[in-house]
Amino acid sequence: MISINLHNRFIFITGGLGAIAESILRRLLEAGATLVITDLLPVDEAERRLEGYNLPSRNWRYLRCDVTDLTSIATAVGESFTLHPELDCFVGLAGGCALHPFASTSPTEYRRIFDYNYYGHVDVARSITQHWTERSIAGHAVFTTSLVGSLPWVDLSAYAPAKAAIEMFAKCLALEFATQGIRFNCIAPGHVATGSSLKVYDEDQGYRSLVDRAIPLKRLIRPESIADAFLWLISSLAQDVNGQIIKVDCGASIPKVG
Ligand SMILES: NC(=O)c1ccc[n+]([C@@H]2O[C@H](COP(=O)([O-])OP(=O)(O)OC[C@H]3O[C@@H](n4cnc5c(N)ncnc54)[C@H](O)[C@@H]3O)[C@@H](O)[C@H]2O)c1
Repeated sequence: MISINLHNRFIFITGGLGAIAESILRRLLEAGATLVITDLLPVDEAERRLEGYNLPSRNWRYLRCDVTDLTSIATAVGESFTLHPELDCFVGLAGGCALHPFASTSPTEYRRIFDYNYYGHVDVARSITQHWTERSIAGHAVFTTSLVGSLPWVDLSAYAPAKAAIEMFAKCLALEFATQGIRFNCIAPGHVATGSSLKVYDEDQGYRSLVDRAIPLKRLIRPESIADAFLWLISSLAQDVNGQIIKVDCGASIPKVG
C-alpha cells in the first residue's frame, strides 16, 4: 500500500481562503502537513471561516498576507519562519480575475490584474527564497497558474499573460536555484467546479457552451483533483520534478483542430 506522509512538510500558502484552497488545505492536513494559511481577511474572521471547514487537524495557523504589499509579505513570511524555522514549501494560490475585455478595461485595472497575478507570486517567492538561502533549506515553491497560461482565452488578456509569465518565471528560477536544491513547479488547473467559475458556468449559457466545447472530457475539474495534484507534487513521490507545469484540465489544453 502506498501512503503519502507530509509530517515533515511546513507549508506557507497564499490565497488560502479561496474557492480551490479548501480542498487543498483538507488534503494537505490529511497527509499530516503543518500549514501557515494566509489571505486578506483579518485573523479572527479568517479563523472563524477556517473552523467552519471542519478541517481534519488543527495543524494550521492563519496569518494575514496581502501579496500585493511588500511589507505585508515580509511580515507574514518572517513570522512564519519564526513559528516554523524548517518551513520548506510555498504554495501560491492567490490569483484570479473576472473577464475583462481589452477595449473596456482601464489601463489601471489591466495593470492591477497583471500585477496581482504575476508579482503576487514573484514577490512572495523572493521573500521565501531569501529565507531558504540564509537557512540552507532545499525548499519547493508551487505556483498556481492556469489552462489559459498556455491556451489563449477571450477577455482574459491581462490574466492569461500573467499566468504564462509565472510558468516561465518558475522555469528560470528552477535553473537559478538548482545548485541549492530549491525547486519550482506550477500546477495549471483548467475550469474548476467551484467558486466563481462554477457560478458563471451554471448561469451563463455562452460560457458554458464555450467550456463544454473546450474540454474533451466534457466536465469541469473537481477541486479534489487539483488538491490531489498538489498533494503528489509536494510529496516525496515527486521529489525529482523540477521546473514543470502540471496540467489538471480534463484534456482542455490538448492542441486540437476544429
Ligand atoms: N477557479 C478556477 O477555475 C481556476 C482555474 C485555473 C486557475 N485558477 C487559479 O487558482 C487559484 C485559486 O483560484 P480560486 O478560484 O480559488 O480563486 P478565489 O478568487 O476563490 O481565491 C483567491 C483568494 O485570494 C485572495 N486574495 C485576493 N487578493 C489577494 C491579495 N492581494 N493578497 C492575498 N490574497 C488575496 C482572496 O481573498 C481569495 O481568498 C488562482 O491563482 C487562480 O488564478 C483557478
